[in-house]
Amino acid sequence: CGIVGCVGRPDETLDVLMTGLSNLEYRGYDSAGVALSNEALSVEKRAGELSELENAVRTTSLHGNVGVGHTRWSTHGAPTDANAHPHTDCSERVGVVHNGIIENYDVLKQELQSRGHTFESETDTEVVAHLVEERLEAGTDPESAVRGAVDRLEGSYAVGVVVAGVDAIFAAREDSPLVIGVADDEFHLASDVPAFLDYTDRVVYLDDGEFATLRPGGLTVMDAEGVPIEKPIETVDWDTEDTGKGGYDHYMLKEIHEQPHAIRQCLSGRVDELHGRVELEELDGLSTPKRVQFIACGTSYHAGLYAAHLFREMGVPAQTFIASEYATSPPPVGEDELVVAITQSGETADTLSALREAKARGAETLALTNVVGSSVTRECDHTMYIRAGPEIGVAASKTFTSQLVAVNLLVEAMNGNDAGVLTGLRDLAGDLQSVLDRVNVRSAAAQLAAADRCFFVGRGLNHPVALEGALKFKEITYVHAEGFPAGELKHGSLALVTEDTPVVAVLTGDDEETRKTIGNIKEVESRDAPVIAVTDGRVEVASFVDECIQIPETHPHVAPLLANVVLQLIAYRSANLLGRSIDKPRNLAKSVTVE
Ligand code: G6P
Repeated sequence: CGIVGCVGRPDETLDVLMTGLSNLEYRGYDSAGVALSNEALSVEKRAGELSELENAVRTTSLHGNVGVGHTRWSTHGAPTDANAHPHTDCSERVGVVHNGIIENYDVLKQELQSRGHTFESETDTEVVAHLVEERLEAGTDPESAVRGAVDRLEGSYAVGVVVAGVDAIFAAREDSPLVIGVADDEFHLASDVPAFLDYTDRVVYLDDGEFATLRPGGLTVMDAEGVPIEKPIETVDWDTEDTGKGGYDHYMLKEIHEQPHAIRQCLSGRVDELHGRVELEELDGLSTPKRVQFIACGTSYHAGLYAAHLFREMGVPAQTFIASEYATSPPPVGEDELVVAITQSGETADTLSALREAKARGAETLALTNVVGSSVTRECDHTMYIRAGPEIGVAASKTFTSQLVAVNLLVEAMNGNDAGVLTGLRDLAGDLQSVLDRVNVRSAAAQLAAADRCFFVGRGLNHPVALEGALKFKEITYVHAEGFPAGELKHGSLALVTEDTPVVAVLTGDDEETRKTIGNIKEVESRDAPVIAVTDGRVEVASFVDECIQIPETHPHVAPLLANVVLQLIAYRSANLLGRSIDKPRNLAKSVTVE
């Protein structure tokens, strides 16, 4: 979900909120709404995409000196007008937007109902509005009323509250991101920086337990004890151009094409070419661990699988866990363990929860993330940024590539700097650019788009690439796709393989493993499955597969990154042929801040 808020632009409050919501639409989009405060509160909210709200506000004259807005990705209650945020109290004086889950909302709701409050929605959020209302009616000043209400909440929340007749936004955070944009006498509230990049690049990150009051001309922040604190103002170096589509049809395509730049950013200042050394200043004090565990979800989990493979190769026992399972059944960890949370957003609730388990067991922790100041960075002992820049498309593309580059840097910094890998990394941006410029995936994409299901296989470091290729494909085409370690397909799923199930095989290098993958390709070919091979050409496959897509030769650690780009392009082209909502696939959200 996404939160926006604005104080200090009385004539443009609605426009600023709508711009912010449109910039944040990728965070959630099954309903949206705004609440503006003047003498009275005006609220407009609609189920559906943001365009529904845009149409609705066009026919009204919403005015307010201050306001908050929200785009929603449902957790409690169906995506309906009534369940859309902002939520209000019985007297419609209080408007509330919220991300996260209020765990004790049932108890609070019953309590409030027993005191005569009636509820309009099925959401957990609405309790906040009623809690504030009670305090206002008891004569409490608005700021204390909101603080008192927030004190009653358990769970995770980022809330923004406006009160009729009060020129202020009150905001609080616990386990859910919230940032404030600072521009002279105006202030913006948002769950994510791109919301207000049109207006300012100066930001204050709220920490858990903090409470902020935004008034025209003044911002105050209090700690959990109510003591006013000075917060540093940071400048972010994203510009609005970065968050636009820049001439591409979709954010995802733009982000795929930004990968050479993202790679250079990730490497910048970290490789000492002269001495052939990786230097990660931010990880000073972190020595090579005895054992490593990676925790992550979705695409980041695939980066974790790749990372564990590299660590094992250097002799360090390493395992990768799906974060939600790690939190449910944590493996033994000790002080010798480095636990690495891989999360591009830095806000994924499952990953943060697994991280807390690991910390509670005494592990040293490292965050690998894209978002400066995100929750994961505050909770880990060390942070390494992947520097991919903002990624708007819900399906991760450049952040995955940057995660893999960062993992390589980490391994090389700890493992004595292999000249071959460093050369592969140095050439990677150029090699990737040549894939983008030269590789033609049209016929492969057409074949896969026409299928009811398809499989992706790869062995070793190409196994996570196969998994990621299948995930990307199903996320944006809605066609059933599954990824397998190449050797595993024959242990069951081969039963599904027919002439109607295309198989995409990723094979790089020319070692024994690659030859085994060729054996696996032959197994599916003999069941008449069409095979598309993505290969660096070091073993001969073109003569017996249906289609062969070639990538440049490079170091074996780096080749999977090039193969992955081919799979991104195939997924994108197939989804485009099918007319899918590529940047905002149905049911998915960019950043999932609930468990
Ligand atoms: C969501 C997104 C996925 C992403 C996953 C982990 O489910 O839809 O694309 O891979 O979250 O996100 P993270 O920000 O932790 O990398």
